[in-house]
Amino acid sequence: MSDIKEVIINKKTDLNPVWIMRQAGRYLPEFREIRKKNTNFINLCLNKELSAEITLQPLRRFAFDAAIIFSDILMLPYGLNQKVEFKKNFGPLLGDLSLDNISSINEKDFVQRIDPVYKAINLVKKHKLTENKTIIGFVGAPWTLLVYMINKQSPKLKLKDDFLSNDVLIKNLLKILDKFLKIHIKNQIQNGAGLIQIFDSWAGLLENTQLQNLVYDPTLSLVEYIKSFNIPVICFPRGIKDYKSYCEVINPDAICIDYEVDPLQIKKEIKIPVQGGMDPKVLLTDKENLKKEIKKYLDIFKDHPYIFNLGHGVLPETDPNMMDYLVKTVKDY
Ligand code: CP3
Repeated sequence: MSDIKEVIINKKTDLNPVWIMRQAGRYLPEFREIRKKNTNFINLCLNKELSAEITLQPLRRFAFDAAIIFSDILMLPYGLNQKVEFKKNFGPLLGDLSLDNISSINEKDFVQRIDPVYKAINLVKKHKLTENKTIIGFVGAPWTLLVYMINKQSPKLKLKDDFLSNDVLIKNLLKILDKFLKIHIKNQIQNGAGLIQIFDSWAGLLENTQLQNLVYDPTLSLVEYIKSFNIPVICFPRGIKDYKSYCEVINPDAICIDYEVDPLQIKKEIKIPVQGGMDPKVLLTDKENLKKEIKKYLDIFKDHPYIFNLGHGVLPETDPNMMDYLVKTVKDY
């Protein structure tokens, strides 16, 4: 069993597995080289050989315990035929959302549109670099996808005032998302994903009273579905603040925490395995400070099942040498 699974399933506390959100990406010159020649990001995600290669790039450099498949949470709206583009220095830009349009998509059409994602997982799974490593598949949580699909771009810090006013749209969209997210999860698992992470990047935009319908119920449906395959699921409700209630309601196999929560409080309140937490900006400082921050998290979670990771994705301006130092420091702890 991989170290990550030993921590999650057997609650081992003497192992220090590590992987990093966005470990395959822009801080690596070899990724930027490929990206330069592939200006359309969606097409890059749909190129199974290149996606597999980008997934493996960080494993060639660093002793990560997992490969996270190079794709994007927005491949789901793409699969549903909503236009998705990534504009330089702007981020994602989605086309108009038509419920009629996306309601007409069936499972076969959807899987066909994004099939290279599954083929890439298969290639990664078969590669010798991933022997004994966990292959992580992922999805966006229904709430976060709903935000992008309706808002059509990153909401940054807040949603428009009338965002939640169209109840019918939201209800129907959540139903469609539940169906296709499960199809997407099933295909990732069938092609070699041994763990699923659910990214709820915009969970922090909601008030507590809105969580039940928009975050808890739709996420729980996916978590139970993933568990039915006997595959662990990690949830990352970024910015949720009340991680304790979230874990009580959702009960994922592990919880990934952001960098704004106090890890000491998490350690006190949460019984399930924990992942992540360190601020990605620490990697932009110096080795001494990096070591101190890494040690802080590893000390706090010394007797708790813990997977080292950051509290959000690694920043593009990160020096790969700092990542090398991070991995070695975690492994030497
Ligand atoms: O290494 C990995 O973690 C796997 C690949 C991965 C990507 N996106 C590749 C990517 C994963 C797991 C994601 C998840 C994702 N995508 C999330 C959830 C995590 C989070 O960051 O909160 C979200 C919200 C998205 C949507 C998205 N995709 C945004 C907002 C952006 C633009 C801003 C940004 O951070 O780059 C993307 C583009 C994207 N997804 C890139 C990569 C490597 C950069 C594309 C480029 O080269 O320009």
